[in-house]
Amino acid sequence: MLAEHIASITAWLPVGADPRHIVDLGCGTGTGTFALLKRFPHAEVTAVDTSNSHLHRLLEKATAEGLADRVHTVQADLDATWPDLGTPELVWASASMHHMADPDRALRQVRNTLAPGGLFAVVELDGFPRFLPEDAPEERPGLEERCHAALARHHAEHVSHRGADWGAKLTATGFTVKAERTVTVNLGPPHTDAVGRYALSSLRRLRSGAAQALTAEDLTALDRLLDTEGPHSVLRRGDLTVRTERMVWAATASGG
Ligand SMILES: C[S@@+](CC[C@H](N)C(=O)[O-])C[C@H]1O[C@@H](n2cnc3c(N)ncnc32)[C@H](O)[C@@H]1O
Repeated sequence: MLAEHIASITAWLPVGADPRHIVDLGCGTGTGTFALLKRFPHAEVTAVDTSNSHLHRLLEKATAEGLADRVHTVQADLDATWPDLGTPELVWASASMHHMADPDRALRQVRNTLAPGGLFAVVELDGFPRFLPEDAPEERPGLEERCHAALARHHAEHVSHRGADWGAKLTATGFTVKAERTVTVNLGPPHTDAVGRYALSSLRRLRSGAAQALTAEDLTALDRLLDTEGPHSVLRRGDLTVRTERMVWAATASGG
């Protein structure tokens, strides 16, 4: 669903010569990996993640698309011993750096891993996307924003690196930021079923972080949206959008 936006980011990357070896850190099921394989048809991608099941799905997709010979998966916890990833000319980290327990350490590891003159692209989301109109749901207008405010308080305590200034972090760890960009995403309505499922999974995660700080009325309204069997299910709404921003930093090792 967001493939078009990822493609616009990979097209924008200020790479010199086309990279032959790319590393995708915290690749998940491969949204970035596949965009990179398409953008750089002569490159191979090493896709790294802690999750074996994500890597398994990524390889299944690669096989289905005839790309398996250009993808290598590495199961590793990037907060632990750094795996041997060769010397890639491009390292891509999308929505993964904020998960690191010690992102500065991870950034230094990337600096040591990159080939001379290589590029490091950090993509981060500006929080969870917004899906509901501002006056929804009818009985509790503005519910989604209140959930986000509650979640932001939770994140400030538990996921302190979300929303970090990655430009400053990159500079502090020996990178020079060559370019940065904000990509605004605003999809639908109308929307596909995938948007409904995306809204459902995001609102579920929102609930797990925000529940304690919500009023009983808001929690009830949220649970109505999350009840996929009920008449108020988010899956039944025709007015969903995906509104979000992605920030991208493209950096090279200073002095490199
Ligand atoms: C929000 S997902 C992003 C997936 C993908 N890069 C994308 O843009 O859609 C974050 C990914 O980082 C992985 N991850 C989180 N912490 C990690 C760590 N310490 N080492 C390796 N991967 C990690 C998670 O398993 C997850 O797949």
